[in-house]
Amino acid sequence: MDERQRSQQVKALKDELRQLYQDLYSDSGEAWEALLRMLDQAEAQRPAVMKDLDARRLQDPDWFKDRNMLGMQLYVGPFAGTLQGVREKLDYIESCGVNYLHLMPLLESPAGRSDGGYAVADFRRVQPELGTMEDLAALTADCHSRGISVCLDFVMNHTSEDHEWARRARAGEAEYQDFYFFYDDWSIPQEYEKHVPQVFPTTAPGNFTWCREVGKPVMTTFYPYQWDLNYANPAVFNAMTDNMLFLCNKGVDVIRLDAVPYIWKELGTNCRNLPQVHTLVRMMRLVCEIVCPGTLLLGEVVMEPSKVVPYFGSVEKPECHMLYNVTTMASIWHTVASHDVRLLRHQLGQVFVLPKEYGFLNYIRCHDDIGWGLDYPYLSRFGMGEVPHKRYLNDYFTGKWPGSPARGELYNDDPRLGDARLCGTTASLCGIEAARYERDGGKLAWALRLDLMLHALIFTMSGLPILYSGDEITQENDYSYHSDPLKADDSRYIHRGNMNWAAAEKRNDPETPEGMIFQGLRKLETLRGEHRVFDSKADTWNVYTGDDSVLGIGRYWRGEKLVALFNFSEFEKTVAISELGVFTDLLTGEKADKLRITLPSGCFVWLLCDFGEEKA
Ligand code: GLC
Repeated sequence: MDERQRSQQVKALKDELRQLYQDLYSDSGEAWEALLRMLDQAEAQRPAVMKDLDARRLQDPDWFKDRNMLGMQLYVGPFAGTLQGVREKLDYIESCGVNYLHLMPLLESPAGRSDGGYAVADFRRVQPELGTMEDLAALTADCHSRGISVCLDFVMNHTSEDHEWARRARAGEAEYQDFYFFYDDWSIPQEYEKHVPQVFPTTAPGNFTWCREVGKPVMTTFYPYQWDLNYANPAVFNAMTDNMLFLCNKGVDVIRLDAVPYIWKELGTNCRNLPQVHTLVRMMRLVCEIVCPGTLLLGEVVMEPSKVVPYFGSVEKPECHMLYNVTTMASIWHTVASHDVRLLRHQLGQVFVLPKEYGFLNYIRCHDDIGWGLDYPYLSRFGMGEVPHKRYLNDYFTGKWPGSPARGELYNDDPRLGDARLCGTTASLCGIEAARYERDGGKLAWALRLDLMLHALIFTMSGLPILYSGDEITQENDYSYHSDPLKADDSRYIHRGNMNWAAAEKRNDPETPEGMIFQGLRKLETLRGEHRVFDSKADTWNVYTGDDSVLGIGRYWRGEKLVALFNFSEFEKTVAISELGVFTDLLTGEKADKLRITLPSGCFVWLLCDFGEEKA
């Protein structure tokens, strides 16, 4: 794209932005002018190296869909103490094959009222214990020089009650009270409560909190110290956009739009996924395309599939570049516990028919709990009701179910609704923790196989696979949060423990659990990078295995066909596949007998057929 084309493009983007701004904020001439000035300023302040990156990415807009991409998400403190510490660990991060680094919230946030950093008190200051804004810029620069892109959370739904806007609102400044949702008395909040579900029913019930200083209730969808921002006020959109661009100019490549479905509130609705949310996301996308076109938007949309996909927008008017494959993640854990692949097959069937332009982020674990947002109407066909099935899953993953090797903890257990969620690391949920504790070699070998198989599954899917830091070395649950009064109420801290660097030392020894998983992952990542069949443009489908405990996935791209099989059963299985072609086991190099593929429990195979028909 030459300069003239780019300036024409920017003009069109600005026209659309103005139109949407007017739709949302009719009669807001001054605010619009202020936004335009701010965009110009952000563009002028954009560092030259970031502008170079923008230019390169404009030429290659699908760069993040490359099959060589591998992500890792980590908390700076538990991983390496400080941002400077992370810089010193970049060799390790690179040795994992990682080229996309999600740094969990690191901006200033009050101790004990931080929600893991998701209650931001200052969008322009790093949490002092972790370092400074200069350290962040230095880290992103180091990452870029190694070809690693950096993702940062943008917590846009709310601020901490300690944020300057909230402090000024408390001090009585009407201008800042208008940044939030204050009501004169409880009558309107009570109306809202009739339709709005609760995010943290046990740890933070209700959606409003009494603000003593103002003498009014204020909306707090998440924790009482997280005040919801009012995006119906254009000043909020402008100020938050300015904050986002500030972070982009510090070298952040990927903006994770935290809790994005919640950002527009309307009395009488459930305040989730309202049409205005999509307008706002589209506006943010336009802002990025105008000022920092190399930036990606990653939407955190933890909702059922029909609510997730609209956040991609349309081909002509895209919203997010990437979304989490959240239902697939939850369905995978359901499959681990039920040994029945029918739901997962059904779920994947829906993902496989989506346009290949959609970029999913595939993961097994992240910093949050696993919510059992499964397709219950589908499960009911097999006699699995929502409440009893959730109870079974929670019993299984907390190890209460007889024979279950999993060691997790419940999260926000709501006995009224029978609706608890689940926490724990991959290793502990797969049974590695229990097997090590019991010194049971057979159990350990099985749990390690399962752990690797789940990773192989996310590597088989199109999109960007993300490792949760520590999973590459089988890190177990950290129970120390129980004795920390600032964390004890929030069981998500069980899987946010300090990185075990002593264990990481064993990663090159394949005789150790750490080495088995680390080396196993490296092998899978390398194969994924080597074979075009893993390209995100590949066709994907469910392969019939004739067995409801063995999942089969097919991929085809330019003469390469992959059949991946995953045995979720407790028993060894032998299956046959009726796919055309001669297949070789990618991991062993051996020729496969399509009519007799034997998989021990918890094992997978990647079978490749090369028709040798690569076309340009
Ligand atoms: C997102 C985060 C979660 C946080 C919430 C509120 O869902 O992933 O950790 O508690 O937003 O900001």
